[in-house]
Amino acid sequence: LETTPDTSADAGRDFTAIGVVGLGTMGAGIAEVFARHGFAVVGVELSEESVARGRQYLEHSTGRAVRRGKLTEEEQAELLGRVTLTTSLKDLADVDLVVEAAVESMATKQAIFRELDAIVGPDTVLATNTSSLSVTELSSATSRPGRVVGVHFFNPAPVQKLVEVVRTVVTEPAVLDDVQALLGRLGKSPVVCGDKAGFIANTLLFGYLNHAASMFEGRYASREDIDAAMRFGCGYPMGPLALLDLIGLDTAYEILETMYRQGRDRLHAPTPILKQMVTAGLLGRKTGRGFYTYEAPDSPVVV
Ligand code: 3HC
Repeated sequence: LETTPDTSADAGRDFTAIGVVGLGTMGAGIAEVFARHGFAVVGVELSEESVARGRQYLEHSTGRAVRRGKLTEEEQAELLGRVTLTTSLKDLADVDLVVEAAVESMATKQAIFRELDAIVGPDTVLATNTSSLSVTELSSATSRPGRVVGVHFFNPAPVQKLVEVVRTVVTEPAVLDDVQALLGRLGKSPVVCGDKAGFIANTLLFGYLNHAASMFEGRYASREDIDAAMRFGCGYPMGPLALLDLIGLDTAYEILETMYRQGRDRLHAPTPILKQMVTAGLLGRKTGRGFYTYEAPDSPVVV
C-alpha cells in the first residue's frame, strides 16, 4: 500500500487529488485503485443511499484484502481515510482529474460533464469510464474537449491490469501522455485506441459472450459445459456465462446494443435471452441471479 502518490518517475503532470463520479461496481473499484496508491479521492453519488452503497463496497473490498493478508487493518483504515464521499459535484472543485463512471446514458453523462466543466479548474482532465458511448460527443459538452479522454477500466477494477485510454481527434497529446503515466503508477497496463464503440477489448469480447448466450439459449449445451469448455480448453479464467454474470446482464446488453447500432455487425445483435433476463431482473451477481445463482455479490454459490 502506498501512502503518497509516487510521482518520481514522471516528468509530466503531477496528479494528486482525483474525483470519481458514480460509485457503482466500476466507480467504487476505480476509487479503491486510486486510494490504494496514495491519492486523495473524492467520490460523488446522487443520493445518500448510493453513497452508503459505495462506502459498503469499499469496506467490503478492502476487508477482503485484509482477510487475504494483503492489507493490515491499519492500512485499510488509512486507505478508507483517503476517500471522501459526497452527493455534490461542487466538492470536486480542487481535483486534478475526474473519472466519470455514471450510468451508460449519453444525456446523463453530458449533463455531468457540462456541470463539471463549470466547477473544476481549467487544467483539470475530465475522463469517462464509458464502455461504448462516444467520448467525442461527451467532450463536446465541455469547453475543454482537448482535455477529455476515455479511461476504460475492466471488472474487477482493482484486479484487472488493462485500462483502455481513448483518444478523440482533439485530445491533446500531452494529456494522453500524462494519463498513461498516471495509470502506470497505479500498476495498470494502459493501451491507447480511437473513439469507436467497444474500443479494443469489448469489440473482440462481446461477440464471443453473445455467441455463448445464444448457444445456451438454443440448449446446445449446459451452462456448466459451455463455461468449462472455455476455462479448461482455452485457459480463460472464467467461462463466458459466469463472466456475463460478473459484468452484469444489463450492462452487457447495453454494450451489445450500442455496438450493434454503430457497427451493424450481426455478431453484436443482442441474443434475445439477454433482454428477457434483464427484463426479469436477472442481472447477474449484483442481483444474486443471472445464468447462475449467488449467495453474495462476490461469493458465487452455484445453485
Ligand atoms: N473485486 C476486487 N477484487 C477481487 C474481486 C472483486 N470483485 N474478485 C476477485 N478479486 C481479487 C481477489 O481478492 C484476489 O486478490 P489477491 O490475489 O490480491 O488475493 C484476486 O482477485 C483473485 O481472486 P480469487 O482467487 O478469488 O479468484 P480468481 O483467481 O478466480 O479470480 C477473477 C477472479 C479476477 C474475477 C478472474 O476470474 C478473472 O480475471 N476473470 C475474468 C474477468 C474479466 O474478463 N473481466 C473483464 C470483463 S469485461 C469488462 O469489464 C469491460 C466492461 O466494459 C464491461
